[in-house]
Amino acid sequence: MRKPVIAGNWKMHMTCAQAREWMATFLPLIAATPNDRELVVAPPFTAISTMADLVKGSTLELSSQNVHWEGHGAYTAEIAPGMLLEHDVVYAIVGHSEPRKYFSESDEQINHRARSAQSNGLIPIVCVGETDEQRTRGEAERVIRRQVEQGLEGLDPAKLIVAYEPIWAIGTGKTCESTEANRICGLIRSWVGSPDLIIQYGGSVKPGNIDELMSMSDIDGVLVGGASLEAESFARIANYQAG
Ligand code: 13P
Repeated sequence: MRKPVIAGNWKMHMTCAQAREWMATFLPLIAATPNDRELVVAPPFTAISTMADLVKGSTLELSSQNVHWEGHGAYTAEIAPGMLLEHDVVYAIVGHSEPRKYFSESDEQINHRARSAQSNGLIPIVCVGETDEQRTRGEAERVIRRQVEQGLEGLDPAKLIVAYEPIWAIGTGKTCESTEANRICGLIRSWVGSPDLIIQYGGSVKPGNIDELMSMSDIDGVLVGGASLEAESFARIANYQAG
């Protein structure tokens, strides 16, 4: 049985003061949320310590937005697994399309990050997804398959989440059709060969489309950007009702 994981990726948003305000609104709204789902937030690094205090006693878990493959060293701007574990972080997003695009992160680097996360007891959320051009050229499946095969090499699928985030759907308001997102998530599951693998969809997830997305057989959760910045809208997403 795959427990759905509803995760908010705050990206480069939220000061500590804003995170406190967000939590004051959010926590009462999830007080009655069924525990058949996992709720996760990925704050920026500066807010992780504040959030670690605020999530205590709640069902909300923390994710980082990145993790390095070394335990420490001369890697300016990077973050080591132990630094995250010290704040009870459980998940680590790796391979998001933004660092892939802006910092040319390769599948090999992403695989190093994911392996490091797993071997240190963090659960990597490995993001994959095609660009608009790749989809138009009919290359979406080939691109995603390469990202999956190279990014997940040597990983244990039981301690892993894959997030299918078509790049053309991120921050654009253009959600991938739920049936198409479901089809790609099903393909990813078959390529990895693990029926228990948790696969999220991400890309313009909103209160208005969450129920439909979560009704799909191969979508086991969502990775939410913009709509996770508003406590009320993320709470509605967390309180989805799958048909
Ligand atoms: P949006 O929900 O803003 O489209 O962002 C998706 C995303 O990138 C989550 O990681």
